[in-house]
Amino acid sequence: MDQSLKNKTAIITGGNSGIGYATAADFLAKGARVLITGRNPGAVQRAVHSLGFPAEGFTADQSSTDDTKKLAEYVRSRYGKVDILFINAGIAKFSGITDVTEEDFDAIMNINFRGAFFTVQQLLPLLNDGGSIVFLSATNAYAGMPGTAVLSASKAAINSLARTLSRELAPRHIRVNTIIGGPIDTPILEKIGVSHDQAGDIRKKMTASIPLGRLGESSEVANLVSFLVSDGARFITGGEYSIDGGLMVHPGIN
Ligand SMILES: NC(=O)c1ccc[n+]([C@@H]2O[C@H](COP(=O)([O-])OP(=O)(O)OC[C@H]3O[C@@H](n4cnc5c(N)ncnc54)[C@H](OP(=O)(O)O)[C@@H]3O)[C@@H](O)[C@H]2O)c1
Repeated sequence: MDQSLKNKTAIITGGNSGIGYATAADFLAKGARVLITGRNPGAVQRAVHSLGFPAEGFTADQSSTDDTKKLAEYVRSRYGKVDILFINAGIAKFSGITDVTEEDFDAIMNINFRGAFFTVQQLLPLLNDGGSIVFLSATNAYAGMPGTAVLSASKAAINSLARTLSRELAPRHIRVNTIIGGPIDTPILEKIGVSHDQAGDIRKKMTASIPLGRLGESSEVANLVSFLVSDGARFITGGEYSIDGGLMVHPGIN
């Protein structure tokens, strides 16, 4: 049995569904203690219940610095120090530049980038030297996909932050890596109010552009996160790792 994360403590933001939940399950299977966050107390509790011991939950909105401070305080009192931060919480929202409102702009940037930034800032004093941070970014940061100007910029900012932190935290032997996720089959579209049928159409369209001919699964992203935070990846920092079924090498030329 793979116990590569035995005795490690991990914090996963946005762990009540999708990629964060699958990663929590994988970390637990590999021997880690895991704390997940999310905005909705009921959803966090249900996830903790189905993940089983020793999963724990804490309700915190990543866009709220107050919540992030409370999270850090809880982590300090509950665990003292931690070994792994998986900064995964995020939202997607699509609209062409003429339709983007200031509210949309702020909501996306505040959760996906500002919130990720201050979560790391608050939790960093609790991260052991030799620990590991993984950010969840997206192919949007590079794809130039119409209708994703703000979403893509929020993820590009994450990529930049991760590269800077990889050097800033290297003296503490803290490794910082980024996963560039392609289309993964999670409830992310439904959460922003896209209807089941529309979400199905979007997923069908995405699938058609993926060389491997299918969407990714959350558990496949979880495997990559688990590797990047493990000792097997001890010489890997400042890297970006794509998991997208070949989407970004699709040449568009036949
Ligand atoms: N699915 C994809 O195709 C894809 C591709 C590339 C990158 N990603 C990235 O992967 C990450 C995970 O998304 P997912 O696809 O697994 O979607 P998901 O199932 O919707 O999961 C998102 C998680 O983030 C949490 N979250 C959202 N806003 C939050 C906030 N303000 N504070 C705290 N938690 C918050 C959600 O919890 P609540 O909503 O209950 O608060 C949920 O636990 C996101 O950063 C997303 O951008 C996804």
